[in-house]
Amino acid sequence: MTLKEEIQRRRTFAIISHPDAGKTTLTEKLLLFGGAIHVAGAVKSNKIRKTATSDWMEIEKQRGISVATSVMGFEYEGYKINILDTPGHQDFAEDTYRTLTAVDSVIIVVDAAKGVEAQTRKLMEVCRMRHTPVMIFVNKMDREGKDPFDILDELEQELQIAVRPLSWPIDMGERFRGVYNMYRDSLDLYKPSKQVVTESVHVELQSSGLEKHIGDSLSKKLRDDVELITQVYPVFDREAYLAGHLAPVFFGSALNNFGVKELLDCFVEIAPSPRPVQAEERIVDPYEENFTGFVFKIHANMDPNHRSCIAFVKVCSGKFERNVNYRHVRFNRMMKFSAPTAFMAQKKEVLDEAYAGDIVGLPDNGGTFKIGDTLTSGEELHFKGLPSFSPEMFKYIENADPMKSKQLNKGIEQLMDEGVAQLFTHQFNGRKIIGTVGQLQFEVIQYRLLHEYNAQCRWEPINLYKACWIESDDLAQLEDFKRRKYQYMAYDRQGRDVFLAESSYILMMAQQDFKNIRFHFSSEY
Ligand code: G4P
Repeated sequence: MTLKEEIQRRRTFAIISHPDAGKTTLTEKLLLFGGAIHVAGAVKSNKIRKTATSDWMEIEKQRGISVATSVMGFEYEGYKINILDTPGHQDFAEDTYRTLTAVDSVIIVVDAAKGVEAQTRKLMEVCRMRHTPVMIFVNKMDREGKDPFDILDELEQELQIAVRPLSWPIDMGERFRGVYNMYRDSLDLYKPSKQVVTESVHVELQSSGLEKHIGDSLSKKLRDDVELITQVYPVFDREAYLAGHLAPVFFGSALNNFGVKELLDCFVEIAPSPRPVQAEERIVDPYEENFTGFVFKIHANMDPNHRSCIAFVKVCSGKFERNVNYRHVRFNRMMKFSAPTAFMAQKKEVLDEAYAGDIVGLPDNGGTFKIGDTLTSGEELHFKGLPSFSPEMFKYIENADPMKSKQLNKGIEQLMDEGVAQLFTHQFNGRKIIGTVGQLQFEVIQYRLLHEYNAQCRWEPINLYKACWIESDDLAQLEDFKRRKYQYMAYDRQGRDVFLAESSYILMMAQQDFKNIRFHFSSEY
């Protein structure tokens, strides 16, 4: 196969959802179709069990297990599919944001009864920012849920994206009969089963064959519904989908393996192969001969006796090969890797080559990589677009053991390189503030500082609402703002100005009073 063919057949995506909507179940069913696993239930170890949510050590243990499954690669109908797993626990949302920088598209799972939930809304914002194409799977149709038309309205409003159903449910709950596949004009009849693929029959919507399968009244309702859909929703436009303006919607039941194959078949056909990636210097085309890639995630080993990490590299262009020298741009040093790993379903195995779209795992035994690092065949290149979002929780981090301040600083720096949390330094008094999206991360940091760096930290409260990156063309106003707010100004790790707003009211007033200043809630602007 040529380089071009290899890259064209790749589909790299993430499944995102609010916890419990059915992400794990759907992932598992996709793997079943790919032949990557043979029994249902095999991916469960990938999931952070709900019973353990207050015990983060347990969670970390489970995340450790999940390294092998954090990327699931498999072959399906000539396509190479890479599913990037995202942690279900919302305290690790930052991980999910970063994973979204490494995918070419996204499938969103929504629970038909619950509709759009908080976490989904937030993740969609990230997709929108990056113009990531999204497809939506409305799950749990075997249960009583909202009216499908209401769900479509809700999706449009809450996720702020145009939608177009490509399959349509025939009733729901106990009366659920199947879906009409509008993409292929076929009727898929529902048979509740966790393992068996459902029956699909080709039926013209207007033919009497429909009555034979689903009876008179459901046939009439289906025809009316489909007519309404064609009147209300424009014809599916792939370009609009690829531009991130339109989300095709599918209905089904992941648990019963229903509607999943339809989703997958349509997905491989219309979802994008690796897309060009913006670097600071230029746009990198995936089909370029030379290899380029960037680190989007670092997974640390929680075992203090083996302080090793795996750096996850997304290949952006060309072909990556084992034992070939590549340039680590930040160090300006050539390096080769003798044991890069591929992630095939549940196995981790040493790979010899990988293509644009693939994820390569590089073992790192000592601070070689940090999030955002670029590797190339030699070119000076910096991939950008690994945004930090304003954290939601803030605490001062203080040294609890004055003899170990060096260790503490080193530990903090390295944990931040891994992307565990964000560090801000107060411009006024130099105190360090750690920002996270969840309480668990503070516990993780404290534990890891002690066990890996032999340093002790103490948390002190600080009452903050948001961190905003600020900029302005009006330098006089910017200076005036910084002078007046000097007690609330900090630097991020790149030395950029960050305003720490105490409340939404204070932020609103600042925005009103300083009209020439732009306040950003993510570091990418
Ligand atoms: P998540 O990864 O998004 O958090 O969700 P997960 O797949 O674990 O699904 C959450 C729960 O919803 C699970 O039940 C799962 O079996 C159920 N579920 C998923 N898809 C469907 C569906 O199509 N129909 C119905 N009725 N239920 C579905 P659980 O009881 O929490 O877990 P388990 O004991 O079944 O594993």
